[in-house]
Amino acid sequence: MVYYWVKNLHLTTVTLNICIFMLRFYWMTQRSGWVHKKPIRYFSVTNDTLLLIAGITMAIMSQQYPFVAPWLTTKLVVLLIYIIFGTIALKRGPNMRIRVISGVIALCCFFYIVSVAFSRTPYSWAYFGF
Ligand code: HEM
Repeated sequence: MVYYWVKNLHLTTVTLNICIFMLRFYWMTQRSGWVHKKPIRYFSVTNDTLLLIAGITMAIMSQQYPFVAPWLTTKLVVLLIYIIFGTIALKRGPNMRIRVISGVIALCCFFYIVSVAFSRTPYSWAYFGF
């Protein structure tokens, strides 16, 4: 029962994460000040913290650990890449071209992580029949 709620928390925060990222990415392309507004940033950090806590809790409860279960290792490594490119897209990119390219790479990383989560394999494209 606890697992059920933790998993729902994970899925809710995952959905919010991508919604917030896409919204901020859109604001960035419009050069809007909203992208770095404090309430948005705090909401985003709180959401990401809950996402991580829920993920780690499920990993412990289901006894699947990164560097043991390849799909979880992949998730963590690609999560890191997602964070790096996400930061370049929203903040650190020196110009719009680099920011947009980084944003698209970050989005690809996110959807790859989701496909790895559903298929439980790093070769998720094979699992989905490609
Ligand atoms: C942006 C990052 C992440 C995304 C997009 C994501 C996405 C997902 C999705 C969609 C599922 C559901 C899979 C299903 O129902 O079959 C899932 C499950 C899971 N995630 Fe994540 N996740 C992320 C980060 C993490 C992290 C950092 C951890 C732990 C270190 C983690 C651990 C887990 C575990 C253990 C499950 C299995 C739940 C189960 O079905 O029993 N996730 N994730």
